[in-house]
Amino acid sequence: MYIAAKNRYQNMVYNRVGNSGLKVSALALGLWHNFGSVDSFENQKAIVRRAFDNGITYFDLTNNYGPVPGSAEENFGKILKTEMKPYRDELVIASKAGYEMWDGPYGNWASKKSIIASADQSLQRLGLDYVDIFYSHRPDLETPIEETARALNQLVTQGKALYIGISNYNGAQTKAIAKVFDDLGTPFIISQPRYNMFNRGIESDLLPVIKQEKKAVVSFSSLAQGLLTDKYLNGIPADSRAKKSTSPFLSDDQVEQTLATVKKLNEVAKSRNQTLAEMAIAWNLREPEVVSTLIGASRPEQIDDNVKALANLDFSESELAEIDKILSEQNTIKW
Ligand SMILES: NC(=O)c1ccc[n+]([C@@H]2O[C@H](COP(=O)([O-])OP(=O)(O)OC[C@H]3O[C@@H](n4cnc5c(N)ncnc54)[C@H](OP(=O)(O)O)[C@@H]3O)[C@@H](O)[C@H]2O)c1
Repeated sequence: MYIAAKNRYQNMVYNRVGNSGLKVSALALGLWHNFGSVDSFENQKAIVRRAFDNGITYFDLTNNYGPVPGSAEENFGKILKTEMKPYRDELVIASKAGYEMWDGPYGNWASKKSIIASADQSLQRLGLDYVDIFYSHRPDLETPIEETARALNQLVTQGKALYIGISNYNGAQTKAIAKVFDDLGTPFIISQPRYNMFNRGIESDLLPVIKQEKKAVVSFSSLAQGLLTDKYLNGIPADSRAKKSTSPFLSDDQVEQTLATVKKLNEVAKSRNQTLAEMAIAWNLREPEVVSTLIGASRPEQIDDNVKALANLDFSESELAEIDKILSEQNTIKW
């Protein structure tokens, strides 16, 4: 039987999500990779345990995480049932709808038809009565935002979600849907965009809106899927995401295109007595609107490394300038 570490709340930082009552751990665990039916269930349990033992309370899922789609929610549901049940009220569990999940016109995007059905399916797979945060996973330009907002609001009024988030919405789209949520009284609190040293678009577009609206960001892919770690410095390991046959999202090309930049960034990290992964996470969290950053992990030890980022979250002006200079010198990266 799993018993959580007694000191789990000792070193983690918990940040308030905008002007809501909710706090989330500064690092959150994402289950996009390594939690499918193709992956070792024992390893999944070990990763979840290690995350919680380190004070990570926020676990991020989506209807179609796998492969096979849905299996990450099923596996996390099994872990919840067998290991984490006593800790349910210590966890923030999130799911999303918006990318393709089932055949036909309703298993995708953000119509009311799709969101309501998808949320019910997710709750069933997770074995939960409610999730803590439910996200619209991407904007749907064919569905009126009022319909998407009302569908998400309905999940709250039905008790199936406590809070609402949006993901991959740009600044203007965020402003527009926030207005509808305000009118409906929906507890819309958080936005989930991609943000890392290679993808800084939100700094000028989304973050000013988030600040103005008094919301918050949980960023994803802060390690650029592993590129912003020391993993690829000496070649591409066989057990890395870039080589994983069930993951088409990171290629050898991306590793090669970023390598020279990564080597320079690694030197900056060393001068801060951090690994590159730790520095990349700290760099994400330097933005006041970023209250949490989602990390993925293929093994429990990566969690131990990544939470060490919290030991040095401060950057001097010259460190930030050095990082900006390195990034400005890089070739265009295909992402
Ligand atoms: N809303 C969205 O549209 C969206 C999109 C993408 C992701 N997300 C969320 O964000 C989460 C994280 O995304 P991500 O997996 O791309 O995140 P990431 O943290 O950028 O990359 C995670 C990968 O980096 C490697 N890694 C992690 N820590 C390491 C360390 N200390 N040293 C060396 N390598 C390390 C591992 O890959 P190896 O397998 O190579 O070890 C790990 O699986 C997802 O699970 C999901 O919840 C959301």
